[in-house]
Amino acid sequence: MSRWTLLEADERLSRWDCRDVSIAIIGFGHIGGSMGSLLASKGFPVVGIDKAAGILQAFEAGECPFEEPGLAAVLARAKERHTLRVTADYTEIKSSDVVLIVVGTPLDEDHGPILDHLKSATRSLGKVLQPGMLILLKSTVPPLTTQQLVRPILEEASGMEAGVDFGLAFSPERVDEGNVLEGLYGIPVVVGGVNTASSELAVEFWTRTLGVETMVVPDPTTAELVKLADNQWIDLNIALANEIALLSDAIGVDAMEVIKAANSLPKGQHWVNILYPSIGVGGYCLTKDPWFLHRLGAQRDIDLQTPQCSRAVNEQMPSVTVQRVISCLHAHQKDPAQARVTILGLSFKNDTGDTRSTPAGPIIQMLEDHGCKVQAYDPLVSENQARALTGSAIAPDIQAAVEGADVVACLSCHEEFRSANLSQLKERTRENCWFLDGRLGFDPLSVKAAGFDYTAIGGHCHAGD
Ligand SMILES: NC(=O)c1ccc[n+]([C@@H]2O[C@H](COP(=O)([O-])OP(=O)(O)OC[C@H]3O[C@@H](n4cnc5c(N)ncnc54)[C@H](O)[C@@H]3O)[C@@H](O)[C@H]2O)c1
Repeated sequence: MSRWTLLEADERLSRWDCRDVSIAIIGFGHIGGSMGSLLASKGFPVVGIDKAAGILQAFEAGECPFEEPGLAAVLARAKERHTLRVTADYTEIKSSDVVLIVVGTPLDEDHGPILDHLKSATRSLGKVLQPGMLILLKSTVPPLTTQQLVRPILEEASGMEAGVDFGLAFSPERVDEGNVLEGLYGIPVVVGGVNTASSELAVEFWTRTLGVETMVVPDPTTAELVKLADNQWIDLNIALANEIALLSDAIGVDAMEVIKAANSLPKGQHWVNILYPSIGVGGYCLTKDPWFLHRLGAQRDIDLQTPQCSRAVNEQMPSVTVQRVISCLHAHQKDPAQARVTILGLSFKNDTGDTRSTPAGPIIQMLEDHGCKVQAYDPLVSENQARALTGSAIAPDIQAAVEGADVVACLSCHEEFRSANLSQLKERTRENCWFLDGRLGFDPLSVKAAGFDYTAIGGHCHAGD
């Protein structure tokens, strides 16, 4: 069997000069599918491996199975170039130079990581692994997973040694939905290989395919912790913004004025950078990654406080939002049990159709518990996804959604909502209708000029103003 030594790695690098590096991506979901389409659009031969028939059918038909700005265009380009294939057959990987693993790593009910998809994908990959391949793990994982789970499975299934017969590195995926393509080109890629040769190949891969800046860290475990540190920072930062917003609302000041001014302070090598408050943090990353950190600490008898704190603050925001809606109704002497509440936006953030862990779910549930009649609309979420999320009425368009509303709650401020004619919408609502700006996406004065009463978490104007 050929041995994958540093010398051979160098030879491999020169072969990649001709831009024909062939790539397999295991897990062709939101991140894997977007990255695969982008790489294929640039001319690299890509095979996407997924076990979900729906994903394979969509990509085969040249359709995006999820909402991501710019994805349709790169997918069309990949189709034109005939550089993208999708399949469930792992043997198709055999001719690839580089294999990315991007399967999902969800949480169980006790906040523990579910690594079954990763184990299964790694086992299947191990059986078709070829000498000289570079394996890049990109799924977000608890630290030590590359070394203690992925590496042994690959070595046992293939009979080869990582860092010697094949390269192995962890490169966290740090893009966020709605900005994936931009992020793939713009965000520096962190690389932690099991040895120097693996890191060198990984750097070469990212540099020559996406042309991104790379940052090499000593080992895969460091790279795994980088991803969790980033997301813990974001979740904690939003929790701070949310608490400043709650306090600002209580004392009658505009939280965004506080935050903007606070952010003008230079600190360390950067600036204070408090993010925006909102009706809640959802999605597939910030709701789980802090728990990966917390679990790792608990396994070593360290009771980490920041993951618990940020999760507790951010998880209460849907309930805070519902309380705001109820106070707004009471401010106009309206009975919640007789009220109609319109939800604009079911996804977890602006301009995406992803409803995973969306705050809209608990918000709708709690409004219904108060007896409110809820009608929802989201142009980016399929009817099936919407129905899986709520038993409430799903409106066919924004006009139907706001019909007879006492409160219009914009929970994810998609472009269609930001550009809507608010005055025309107001004509369809009841008298004294509130507009709840869930993600501070609107100018309060324009909302008021359209005839709504304006409220927002952290937007100063609230019930009673
Ligand atoms: N979504 C994001 O914004 C984001 C951002 C950064 C990092 N991440 C991380 O990237 C990873 C993937 O996230 P995603 O949002 O793309 O998830 P996703 O659920 O959209 O995609 C995962 C895909 O893996 C497939 N899969 C599961 N097991 C498989 C197997 N054994 N073989 C082949 N395919 C298999 C699934 O069918 C699915 O299509 C996760 O670890 C996530 O934490 C996600």
